[in-house]
Amino acid sequence: PVADVLAQPDDLKTVPRHPSIPMPDQLFRPRANSKGLEWGARAHLDALVSEMAAAPVASAPKEITAEAAMTRAAHAFPAWRDTPVADRARALRRAADLLEARRAPLMATLTREAGKTIDDGIAEIREAVDFLRYYADEAEALCQPRVLPGPTGERNAWTVRGRGVFLTVAPWNFPLAIFLGQTAAALAAGNAVVAKPAPQTPRIAAQAVAILHEAGVPEDALVLAPGGTELGQALVAHPAVAGVAFTGSTATAKAINRALAEKDGPIVPLIAETGGINAMIADATALPEQVADDVVMSAFRSAGQRCSACRILYLQQDVADRMLEMIEGAAATLRIGDPGDPATDVGPVIDADALARLQAHVAGHRVRWQGTAPEGLFMPPTIIELATGQTLDREVFGPVLHVKRFAAGKLDTVLDEIEATGYGLTFGLHSRIDATIAKVTGRIGAGNVYVNRNQIGAIVGSQPFGGRGMSGTGPKAGGPLYLQRFVEERVVSTDT
Ligand code: NAD
Ligand code: ALA
Repeated sequence: PVADVLAQPDDLKTVPRHPSIPMPDQLFRPRANSKGLEWGARAHLDALVSEMAAAPVASAPKEITAEAAMTRAAHAFPAWRDTPVADRARALRRAADLLEARRAPLMATLTREAGKTIDDGIAEIREAVDFLRYYADEAEALCQPRVLPGPTGERNAWTVRGRGVFLTVAPWNFPLAIFLGQTAAALAAGNAVVAKPAPQTPRIAAQAVAILHEAGVPEDALVLAPGGTELGQALVAHPAVAGVAFTGSTATAKAINRALAEKDGPIVPLIAETGGINAMIADATALPEQVADDVVMSAFRSAGQRCSACRILYLQQDVADRMLEMIEGAAATLRIGDPGDPATDVGPVIDADALARLQAHVAGHRVRWQGTAPEGLFMPPTIIELATGQTLDREVFGPVLHVKRFAAGKLDTVLDEIEATGYGLTFGLHSRIDATIAKVTGRIGAGNVYVNRNQIGAIVGSQPFGGRGMSGTGPKAGGPLYLQRFVEERVVSTDT
């Protein structure tokens, strides 16, 4: 097996450098679109931060019952479905423009309500904008009527159109990008939408919905339903629901799936994007500086509150001590604190319950390294070393990295262990051996696999995002198959 030929440290000189590996001075590889980069540039950043500070606190949205929300959306559906797709797409593109123009007040809410750092806020707005424009383009391509060829001697006219009222249910950790992404996809495809944000982040959702309304989506074709589990359950149970697009935990996805299955009436499709126990493997040929940079980025940035974040790092025994020393050194440079300060790398976790869960998890394990954090809702970046035989059996949603060592020749065992979790969202590999890269990327089941780079921050349209198994149903958000799940097809056959 390839693992048997994994290099000892001394062999590094003889292992050819994989072409995809940048040299250390190239390690910062920006992946943002041009707008994201422009806003993050020093000259723009100072103005952005002052505008954010001056932005008024956004208002909390009004509550609505499940019945009222669904009734309004159901009435609005036929007209929105029959609105030409070009007009629906135009509204989404106009909303994207408005989002860009209003980035300061939106980022102010992201920081105040969700604890997003400036970097994360810029990335989140950029992703939301990308989703709007991408789904506008995709809808225009998908929703074109076609006459299908064939031997029937009839005219077979194929069309797709919205299914009805789509319920979108969003998490708090991407309260703008995911909330808007799901909602924009459903609207672009011709559905009316009842959109339920997470109870922790109603204000940013209200700002996003107001922008879509201003951009031309009729008020009742998109109804905001702020609330928690109880409201979510009532919405899922409502007879008007024609489809559900959910992003959140695996447990909630299963609860929604069960509730939909038990309903009378039509079979309601569910798109579920959930969590993961995301692994990264670094073998003895990996470039230590790059591993350190990419691990810190993947495990600790965004306070580890990304579904894509690295939860467990497998290090080849021969280089584990050296790599851990570098990772800990890099992690120690992170600045933890006020998310509104552009110098901050890691902001707070979402709430006191999340902090208590993380602290309880850490207390039950052998901590190898822990950073420092100020008082408040801040969880210090933490590295836990797991012994052989110890596994991680659930998603730990915060800046806590687990590390396991593996011996040369045991790569297959590591891959078996990763697959045995049942999750399959993101995966990272650092290796300079082409055969190892081919073997591992061929075997691993994760939906988003990253080689010799960090494992977060998928880009809409280029890196469609989503997992398999306990990580989700697919189709991938920001990918060419996503909109297909939001439409129904019809064929009308007539004599020619
Ligand atoms: P959560 O499952 O607790 O809540 C998600 C949403 O579901 C919230 O709006 C919540 O109010 C609602 N909800 C809860 N119970 C419900 C029910 N029975 N019926 C209907 N709605 C219900 O998740 P969270 O804590 O908000 O978000 C974090 C989770 O989301 C993590 O597991 C993370 O991995 C996952 N996530 C996945 C992706 C992805 O793309 N795969 C992206 C972001 C977050
Ligand atoms: N799409 C987000 C990422 O890739 C969750 O990090």
